[in-house]
Amino acid sequence: MKKEPLGWRILAKVLARPSVSRRLIKFAQSRPYFDIYKDEKLYMRRWWLVPSFALAPHPKHGWLEVKPWWPFRWRIHHIVSADSDPHYHDHQSGYRTFILTGGYCEVSPSKISTRFPSLYSNMSAGQLRTFRAGSTASAKATAWHSISAVNPQTYTLFCMSTKQVHEWGFLVEGVKVHWRTYIQAQKMGSTKENKELPPEYKARLEALGKGYKQ
Ligand SMILES: [Fe+2]
Repeated sequence: MKKEPLGWRILAKVLARPSVSRRLIKFAQSRPYFDIYKDEKLYMRRWWLVPSFALAPHPKHGWLEVKPWWPFRWRIHHIVSADSDPHYHDHQSGYRTFILTGGYCEVSPSKISTRFPSLYSNMSAGQLRTFRAGSTASAKATAWHSISAVNPQTYTLFCMSTKQVHEWGFLVEGVKVHWRTYIQAQKMGSTKENKELPPEYKARLEALGKGYKQ
């Protein structure tokens, strides 16, 4: 498992102090970005941790967008529920995240599944990692992962690189599928599977505290 550099780990502890995290969340909550729903269920709420002068309202929808010249894409994320998709996804850019409150479990391809291509896209052969308040994680744009469980009180400080590496998508049977195609297929029912959690996931979840959601 990758250990984050000491400086980032110290910063993560400072940011997760209630007096600090409360201020950050309060500051950001007056700067809304759009919320994400999956299957009509709230998945994530997002706000900008960016000064007002670097933001402008979206002309049609009214949420705020960062002006193109502003170099940082820092946001507060409230992760309300786990990724319900049965496949790993990647991101358009690399990122670093700081867990301010709550915690979550993330699954990603393990060493074993990397060695055996038939297991690679299979989440039940993946490696499970738990992120608690006060910890930090980083990932390249190409890193496959999925949040398998979350404490519904999870707030993170999400710092995304401004450099778009590629279009993001989902890993289906070893093949990357563009997110738009995947979501369209999902609406038509062709990627619907039950994402059953193995018992070991549930044990880790219990360690995250009460009130978790799958
Ligand atoms: Fe993700």
